[in-house]
Amino acid sequence: MDGNGRWAQSRGLDRSAGHRKGMDAAYDCAVACRAAGVSHLSLFAFSTDNWQRPAAEVKELIALFDRGMRENFSRIVADDLRIRFIGDLSGFPQAVRRTIGKIEAETADNGALHLQIALNYSGKWDVAEAVRRLADTGHDLSAATEEQIASELATAGCPELDLLIRTSGELRLSNFMLWQAAYAELYFTEVLWPDFGAAELQAALADYARRERRYGRVEAR
Ligand code: IPE
Ligand code: MG
Repeated sequence: MDGNGRWAQSRGLDRSAGHRKGMDAAYDCAVACRAAGVSHLSLFAFSTDNWQRPAAEVKELIALFDRGMRENFSRIVADDLRIRFIGDLSGFPQAVRRTIGKIEAETADNGALHLQIALNYSGKWDVAEAVRRLADTGHDLSAATEEQIASELATAGCPELDLLIRTSGELRLSNFMLWQAAYAELYFTEVLWPDFGAAELQAALADYARRERRYGRVEAR
């Protein structure tokens, strides 16, 4: 989800106004995905590298996540969203972790859309963490298989990543789900994240539907 800052700055607003609008866009995107029959949606909300931003912006972002989760709580449950957080949550304040734990527990039986929110996440961290977990459970790492590593990733149990959308005109993955993106179809749009609505999602899904996925073979699979 990229472009919150530029969205705000182009309107003469504070970057935090862009983050607030971006959070509304994220919720609307989840609901639109559910309506479109998408089973799993992962949102990259905060990267391990976002700590490098000015302390005030980081603080504002964390407060916004916390407030957003608490204010939208009943709506999340009513909308049948199952929320899970992926990433190293140990870096977040205790109160935020409590809100996260509560929202995961309360939505665990929901099922219309599995919504994963990546907080303090990065693709490299995910793979390194998976390897560490294999080692901790006594696996012989010199014989580690792709399946074993995949089974320890934050996304273990999720279907394979089909479509990866990057907004705001940037043409890079920025350390998001590197392993999982091996055969993902990539979709780049100039639209800034706060403006990414149901129509943009439909356009991305329509584009995806036209792709031919060959996975290195001659014919589509
Ligand atoms: C993405 O928008 C939101 C987060 C990383 C939390 P940005 O804040 O990166 O917006 P730009 O790139 O400055 O426009
Ligand atoms: Mg950005």
